[in-house]
Amino acid sequence: MKPALIFLLFIAFTGCMHQQDKTTVMQNSNDTSENNRTVIYKPGFGEMMENIRLYHAKLWYAGQNRNWKLAAFEIHEITETLDDIRKYQKERKETRYLDMIDLPLENVRISVEQKDSVKFEKSYAQLTKSCNECHRITYYEFIKMKIPGKGPFGNQQFGVN
Ligand code: HEC
Repeated sequence: MKPALIFLLFIAFTGCMHQQDKTTVMQNSNDTSENNRTVIYKPGFGEMMENIRLYHAKLWYAGQNRNWKLAAFEIHEITETLDDIRKYQKERKETRYLDMIDLPLENVRISVEQKDSVKFEKSYAQLTKSCNECHRITYYEFIKMKIPGKGPFGNQQFGVN
């Protein structure tokens, strides 16, 4: 085999390996034709965490503005994304530590339901601590979350009016 061809095959092969990380190929067992293959997108762990980071920040701004409906929505988004991590990233050993965020998140949810700003701030700090605690035990301690500073979200209004 020509070296150039071997090189091309190598590129194609490693390209496939990379793709497999985020996509799954589904195939109808009765039909093996190329056309019947569907590539399903599988979101990455870091990608879903990045979404959680956004919801976590927006939750803070909503709470600060006593916009409880929006705060409840952001909590719902976090919960949904955590469920997605459990579903799409089952094989990652870190996923089993995800439950440690459930109780702190539930406490924030209760503070929002009670429209209690003091409780909200306290439980939000605990929630943020649990993010960092999980990063620490999964050896991602260099990813540190904090209570958001002044706004990266110039494009969304957080007050009720
Ligand atoms: C399983 C326990 C766990 C919990 C709980 C957790 N994380 Fe993570 N987080 C991880 C792991 C593991 C990674 C690295 C993922 C990867 O492989 O890219 C990560 C990565 C991140 C990243 C980096 C994403 C990127 O690609 O740059 C951010 C931001 C983040 N987490 C935010 C949060 C926030 C905010 C919370 C709390 C609301 C939280 N995480 C709770 C485990 C956790």
